[in-house]
Amino acid sequence: MPLIKSLKSHRRKKRGEWQHVSLVAGFLAGRHFVGTNDLHYGFWVNGIEPQIRNLPRAQEEYSRFLLEHIPSDAKRILDVGCGAGGLAAKLVERGHYVDCVSPNAFLNQQAKELLGDRARLFDCKYEDYRTSDVYDAIVFCESYQYVNMPKGLDLVTSQLRSGGSLVICDFFRLPLKEKSPISGGHYIDEFQQIVAGYPLTLVEDIDITLQTAPTFTVIDSAFTDVLRPIWDEIGHASVATHPYWSKLAAWFFRRRLAKVKDKYFTHTRSAANFEKFKTYRLMRYVRD
Ligand SMILES: C[S@@+](CC[C@H](N)C(=O)[O-])C[C@H]1O[C@@H](n2cnc3c(N)ncnc32)[C@H](O)[C@@H]1O
Repeated sequence: MPLIKSLKSHRRKKRGEWQHVSLVAGFLAGRHFVGTNDLHYGFWVNGIEPQIRNLPRAQEEYSRFLLEHIPSDAKRILDVGCGAGGLAAKLVERGHYVDCVSPNAFLNQQAKELLGDRARLFDCKYEDYRTSDVYDAIVFCESYQYVNMPKGLDLVTSQLRSGGSLVICDFFRLPLKEKSPISGGHYIDEFQQIVAGYPLTLVEDIDITLQTAPTFTVIDSAFTDVLRPIWDEIGHASVATHPYWSKLAAWFFRRRLAKVKDKYFTHTRSAANFEKFKTYRLMRYVRD
């Protein structure tokens, strides 16, 4: 493999590992502090104030909205990237047969505890999921951004029956020159170009960026009101107790520390920047 290609794939792998860490950390924090089981954004409508205590309600609204766009007559559904199993449980309750595929062992354990034997769970990346089963609907609930687009769409088109639905509810990057302070998401124009090559017809495309963006108001205030003061206190205590070592560590990790500060403590991961750099879409395609 040429050097540049191998470096890129090494970087992608490293990014993937850290994504797992942030998903598990986000899940544990959400469950412990506000009792949510979901890992997706909130859908801030009906006057719900963007405050952390309202996150479970906003996430319920999101699930309600998404469920409205998953055909109720779909018998067999594949939930790709099922997280802790919240959406799958709702689908089972609505009477669908559900399979889940997801690669995170910790989240899969949570999903297994929630779902028991009411749904099947396959412990792997979607790109590695092989089955002779055919589904009436395949759903990506904020998991599309993690999946390789051509590999994923090859599988979707082979695993979806003709007339079946592909439902993607996720955010994408807008093709802007300026660098976004919020990472994640495939480029929307690249996605549209790639999906056009598959036997899939777009039947719904709803922009929910404005309804989901306030999630960043909540995240930003958690970082500002809780994590920043803790971070500062750790800094003061380290200097007071280990003056030389802390100076050495601060110098040694100066770039990484500056990056963390820049990313989390400068209010750039805001609702306004989410609206500027991303587009959150509910898209439904029907298999030709
Ligand atoms: C933001 S969470 C969303 C979880 C869940 N759908 C929800 O809404 O609560 C993203 C999920 O995608 C999963 N994921 C990451 N990479 C994946 C891949 N290559 N194939 C399938 N799922 C993946 C993660 O393990 C996680 O469960």
